[in-house]
Amino acid sequence: MTTSNRIGQDGVVLVSGANKGIGRAIAARLRNDGFRISLGARNIKALEEAHGPADDAVLFSHFDAFEPDSAAQWVDATIAKFGQIDALVNNAGLGEQVTIMDDNDAALDRLWQVNVKAPLRLTRLCLPYLEACGHGRIVNIASLSGKRVRNAFVGYNMTKFALMGLTHTTRHVAWEKGVRATAVCPSFVRTEMSAYTGKVAPDDMIQPETLAELVSTLIQLPNNAAMAEMLLNCRLEDML
Ligand SMILES: NC(=O)c1ccc[n+]([C@@H]2O[C@H](COP(=O)([O-])OP(=O)(O)OC[C@H]3O[C@@H](n4cnc5c(N)ncnc54)[C@H](OP(=O)(O)O)[C@@H]3O)[C@@H](O)[C@H]2O)c1
Repeated sequence: MTTSNRIGQDGVVLVSGANKGIGRAIAARLRNDGFRISLGARNIKALEEAHGPADDAVLFSHFDAFEPDSAAQWVDATIAKFGQIDALVNNAGLGEQVTIMDDNDAALDRLWQVNVKAPLRLTRLCLPYLEACGHGRIVNIASLSGKRVRNAFVGYNMTKFALMGLTHTTRHVAWEKGVRATAVCPSFVRTEMSAYTGKVAPDDMIQPETLAELVSTLIQLPNNAAMAEMLLNCRLEDML
């Protein structure tokens, strides 16, 4: 395989949780920008409804963070169809609310599985292909809740801090092979996950399409212009 220091226009990008919200917007943007996309979600029908039928440039695969084998099957199906992987977007996430005084190990385990263990598993599975192309990219959709704390939801906050740890470890491990990992850390984004809050009106939140534009830009940067973290505010924050 010929290696290069940036992704080509027909590069192959995996996006988890591409059926709705931020993942849906990222997938649509990447396809519009000419990339071939491999979309993972629990519900294939929802992927078809969101993106139309699969074709030569679009693959749908069952992916459930609670089913470890589904990650390997998704990566295998991607290689079988496209023969390469240039980028991975770990977007799927769970916003379950667990506070310090809640004694809810089951919910904590779910948060850990979806927000941390599945991104780590997909990183491990994709890394050989990302390294082989010389310009592999990993974008982890973390959160400002992985940078600072403004609420009581300790379960979610811990997992997003952990995802920062995964991102920075990946940078160290894979840098020499041309892989660049970025943690994208948005404040509120207008999706189902943020619908519970009254702190910011939906129109004033970051729009999923704006985030998608940034993710596409990140993936297209050359090896010598790497962004480790991208912090995105929709309201003024003292620390950031
Ligand atoms: N919205 C915000 O304000 C905000 C802010 C900062 C960071 N984020 C992060 O952005 C990412 C996307 O969130 P969103 O706002 O787009 O939320 P969303 O609309 O609720 O979408 C969440 C996505 O994750 C998927 N998912 C959940 N559990 C899964 C599992 N077990 N296996 C596979 N996929 C699973 C969902 O699939 P199903 O449809 O099958 O449930 C859905 O595709 C998350 O990582 C979130 O933490 C969001």
